Amino acid sequence: MFFKSSSRSMDMTALRGMLLLLCCHGVSSEFHSLKYFYTASSGLSNFPEFVVVGLVDEVQMVHYDSNSQRAEPRQEWMEQITRDRPDYWERSTGRFLGDQHDFKGSIEILKKRFNQTGGSHVYQKMCGCEWDDEDGDTGGYNQFGYDGEDFISFDLETKTWIAPKPQAYSTKQRWDQNRAYNERNKNYYTKVCVDWLKKYLDYGKSTLQRTERPSVSLLQRSPSSPVVCHATGFYPNRVVMFWRRDDQELHEHVDHGEVLPNHDGTFQVSVGLNLTSVPPEDWMTYECVVQLKGIEDILVPLDPARIMTNWGGDGGVQSNIIIGSVVLLLAAAVGVFVGVFVFKRRNDSAKRRQAGSDTSSVDPGEQNPAPEAQPLNTEVN
Ligand SMILES: *[C@@H]1O[C@H](CO)[C@@H](O)[C@H](O)[C@H]1NC(C)=O
Ligand SMILES: *[C@@H]1O[C@H](CO)[C@@H](O)[C@H](O)[C@H]1NC(C)=O
Repeated sequence: MFFKSSSRSMDMTALRGMLLLLCCHGVSSEFHSLKYFYTASSGLSNFPEFVVVGLVDEVQMVHYDSNSQRAEPRQEWMEQITRDRPDYWERSTGRFLGDQHDFKGSIEILKKRFNQTGGSHVYQKMCGCEWDDEDGDTGGYNQFGYDGEDFISFDLETKTWIAPKPQAYSTKQRWDQNRAYNERNKNYYTKVCVDWLKKYLDYGKSTLQRTERPSVSLLQRSPSSPVVCHATGFYPNRVVMFWRRDDQELHEHVDHGEVLPNHDGTFQVSVGLNLTSVPPEDWMTYECVVQLKGIEDILVPLDPARIMTNWGGDGGVQSNIIIGSVVLLLAAAVGVFVGVFVFKRRNDSAKRRQAGSDTSSVDPGEQNPAPEAQPLNTEVN
């Protein structure tokens, strides 16, 4: 595992309870997506106080933290952006620096509002948009969490804020009154964000629009556990996986896992099937199906001889995968991709600085009136 020092794992334990579940805002993996995670923390010695991570189709493409104080590409194709927008990195850095200030202010306000004097605290924002390249459907979301619980979220339909916690009521009241801010938010999540998503997909098409075939295995932790169909090494993340019997997709006794990133830029996913009430002679009538656009369906019959188990000789297969996934999810949450994702990152900062200086004498707003690439933020008040 990559969390080596004990103080680091203590931080991870502290964080675990404070992070929102990233999986559950109802995003289907059949869409293209652009997401940003903002994480401000206090009292965690081993993490930067502020981290921003941006992902396209679950692939991290931008990173900012309060140590480096620079927006940096995490994919080679992101460097091409300066062709069309020479000041992209300068402007992004400026935006995130402002956000850092707002988020640090917010966490102090939230601590007071929750009557907290010390300890570790995390304030997060998760936001982004989706686009279905087949029917053109789009969607967006923008939500904030404090210490692992929903704090406030934006309703795109009504352009108002939803505050599930009493400590967020006053923020809701103030933000609801800021019509211009809400209008710009709606415009960002329904239009600007989707336009940027399409741009990123185009810049990165040689990697983002490739197809990699998964390897699929059947795993079982103990003789009474569900049999898990596990696919790994696939790309893109838009995968469909299910169990079926006699050409009928099964919905009962089935447990669908989340699609999770691997360290090499591919993805993994699992679907468990509880077979307690199925007599062994019927097992062969079941099969696991994996569908990925651009390749033929992969069919794996439920052959007991093919199941890798945790008992007997080869222990630990499944639990390692699951632990690895949880850690990856957590890492994604706090943006500690350093050392997890090893991307080729050529040192183009000199080139970028030069690109920036070309336009530095021009007011960026006048020179390029296009909307900002990043979401809007404001301090909690
Ligand atoms: C914080 O303290 C104030 C005053 O002591 C009290 O009225 C309020 O209910 C407390 N809030 C919380 C979240 O504990
Ligand atoms: C599997 O199903 C049986 C009965 O259908 C149930 O008792 C058992 O708890 C289930 N196991 C899991 C891991 O869900």
